[in-house]
Amino acid sequence: MGDRTIWRFHKRPTGPNLNSAFELAYEEIPALSEAEILIANQYIGMDAGTRNWLKAREDGFAPPLPLGAAMVGILIGTVEASEHPDYKPGQLVRAWGQWSNYSIVNPEEVTVHVLDQDIDDIRHYLGLLGPTGLTAYFGVTDIGRAKEGETFVVSAAAGATGSVAGQIARIIGCKTIGIAGTQEKLDWIVSDLGFDLGINYKTDNVEDQLRDACPEGIDIYFDNVAGPILDAVLANIAIHGRIALCGMMDNYNKDELVPGPYKFDMLLMRRATITGFLSRDFFPRMEESDTQIRKWMDQGLITLRFDETEGIENALTTYQRLFRGRNIGKSIIKV
Ligand SMILES: NC(=O)c1ccc[n+]([C@@H]2O[C@H](COP(=O)([O-])OP(=O)(O)OC[C@H]3O[C@@H](n4cnc5c(N)ncnc54)[C@H](OP(=O)(O)O)[C@@H]3O)[C@@H](O)[C@H]2O)c1
Repeated sequence: MGDRTIWRFHKRPTGPNLNSAFELAYEEIPALSEAEILIANQYIGMDAGTRNWLKAREDGFAPPLPLGAAMVGILIGTVEASEHPDYKPGQLVRAWGQWSNYSIVNPEEVTVHVLDQDIDDIRHYLGLLGPTGLTAYFGVTDIGRAKEGETFVVSAAAGATGSVAGQIARIIGCKTIGIAGTQEKLDWIVSDLGFDLGINYKTDNVEDQLRDACPEGIDIYFDNVAGPILDAVLANIAIHGRIALCGMMDNYNKDELVPGPYKFDMLLMRRATITGFLSRDFFPRMEESDTQIRKWMDQGLITLRFDETEGIENALTTYQRLFRGRNIGKSIIKV
């Protein structure tokens, strides 16, 4: 069936440098087994949360990625060959597949969505009409229970999930504050995305800035990073505030267990809650988020910027940019 270029997991990393953890391999594409499909990958999303799978811990939300396995990500592509009765060559699909130009997946084992090809830009299926939109939508509405007039704060606010979560809160009618690591990012979320305020966590005192900006306290915090920013929020959380714990960028590259928030007691003082959630819990409700977000897209109320890099050979460098804050919007590889 020809050859493919594929990123294989070679060695468990320690610390932030992932260069020696992976190897780019050139392999013959294996013959398909029963029920498998071969996908010609077109775009692969770079998802920071998969960093957890590179660790050896057994109590994570997915088992550790075995050494020698291909690195995985959510991708869109075209079915090239199929041994599954429900999938046909030519179909556009979204699936968890391999960092490669060709993925082999078994739809009996992983969810494969067949996508409508009648769309102006298929990248939306990785973004607003895909995992990013789903995570942001249910994190804000279901977990955060954001309501008009409330104060909403999001970290990694110029990244994929954070930029969409903030826009959804703004549409609902919240006062929306984003925390990010560069002035360029803050300018973008305020000028282009309509956030009320941006705070630079690298140069500003986040706790003080939040105190000034949120005199009544923070009703909803959409947390993408944990670490010191979570403490700065806890110091300012409103009575009955809700923290939607989506991710922990500040922890992923650390090898030791990280101590919990120092201001944990503020949950008691303010009768606040913190709720972790995973997008996969909401997969059955994807039509709900897709339908609402599509309406907002049609009304010009919501957008997602793509931070696109061409070439599968650049996947590892692009992935590591997430942890260095080099991306703006949704990081993807164009295969
Ligand atoms: N729960 C779920 O099901 C689910 C689903 C999707 C994503 N997530 C989580 O959502 C978060 C964002 O993921 P994404 O894929 O959308 O990536 P992203 O936000 O597009 O990129 C990550 C951003 O995190 C920021 N960052 C990196 N290290 C940081 C640190 N130590 N402290 C503060 N900010 C830091 C960087 O921006 P700055 O310049 O601002 O530092 C970077 O651009 C991740 O934690 C991910 O695991 C969770």
